[in-house]
Amino acid sequence: MQFKSMTYAHRVLTLVAAIAVSLGLQSEARAGDSTATEPHTVLITGANRGLGLEFARQYKEAGWQVIGTARNPDTAQELAALDVRVVQLDVADQASVDRMAAELAGRPIDLLINNAGIFPRVGKIDEIDFDDYSRTLAVNTIGPVRVTRALLPNLREGKLKMIAGLSSNLGSIAENERGNFYGYRESKAALNMFTKTLAAELGSEGFICVVLTPGWVQTDMGGPNATLTPAESIAGMKAVLDRLTPADNGTFWSYNGSQMPW
Ligand SMILES: NC(=O)c1ccc[n+]([C@@H]2O[C@H](COP(=O)([O-])OP(=O)(O)OC[C@H]3O[C@@H](n4cnc5c(N)ncnc54)[C@H](OP(=O)(O)O)[C@@H]3O)[C@@H](O)[C@H]2O)c1
Repeated sequence: MQFKSMTYAHRVLTLVAAIAVSLGLQSEARAGDSTATEPHTVLITGANRGLGLEFARQYKEAGWQVIGTARNPDTAQELAALDVRVVQLDVADQASVDRMAAELAGRPIDLLINNAGIFPRVGKIDEIDFDDYSRTLAVNTIGPVRVTRALLPNLREGKLKMIAGLSSNLGSIAENERGNFYGYRESKAALNMFTKTLAAELGSEGFICVVLTPGWVQTDMGGPNATLTPAESIAGMKAVLDRLTPADNGTFWSYNGSQMPW
């Protein structure tokens, strides 16, 4: 008798689970939920070196399907060695963005990490080179906008619907006491504003759009004196992303788990 009732209970649970899946309730699964039946997919721009490469490594280790982009896939050996999919992408080139979107058409993407960026070191207004200034906005601000728009169909098909941009402490207007870094600061502050605007547009569809600051990290950009290793910074940012819920749509986070002032 007891055996029979357990079997019945098991059947009911199985039926409830099947109904939940058919209703799409599995989309409630959080990014860090290792019980998800299908591995999540992440696309990371600028994944051939620095923070992008470490994002690819850690998401691959966590069992995700990883798509890493590189301007020049032929020289992206470290990325290819992770056994991930490598796609050519220059975020400042609309033709390249279109080719990537065509190559990935129909492929759901759960998380987009707009990581690619450049950092001209300009201290004083007199030092600004306007070609470099425009290039910085083209890569750091317009690049993520181009990539996000091109991949929206893929993201809409994804379960997590997450879009994360690599911002910077230097992009925080509230924290800007020291000046310096013309072009870079503006490019990241504009990325922050884009993210907030996108969050307002896509929030009702269940999207979670955020910006992250990685801290000061030992990469080609950060230099050898930086305080964090890529492994430490990415572990912190990945932990933030793992915990996000729709209530966090339109927020700005530090790698250390605290929220940043805009
Ligand atoms: N490191 C830090 O301390 C720090 C601090 C705050 C924020 N960040 C941000 O974190 C992100 C990653 O920085 P990182 O330190 O890893 O920099 P990095 O070591 O200089 O790597 C930059 C990456 O971006 C790619 N990239 C540059 N221009 C591109 C373009 N037009 N199209 C596509 N990819 C392009 C590079 O590709 P190539 O190899 O082809 O050049 C490379 O993969 C950036 O957005 C940066 O602003 C870094």
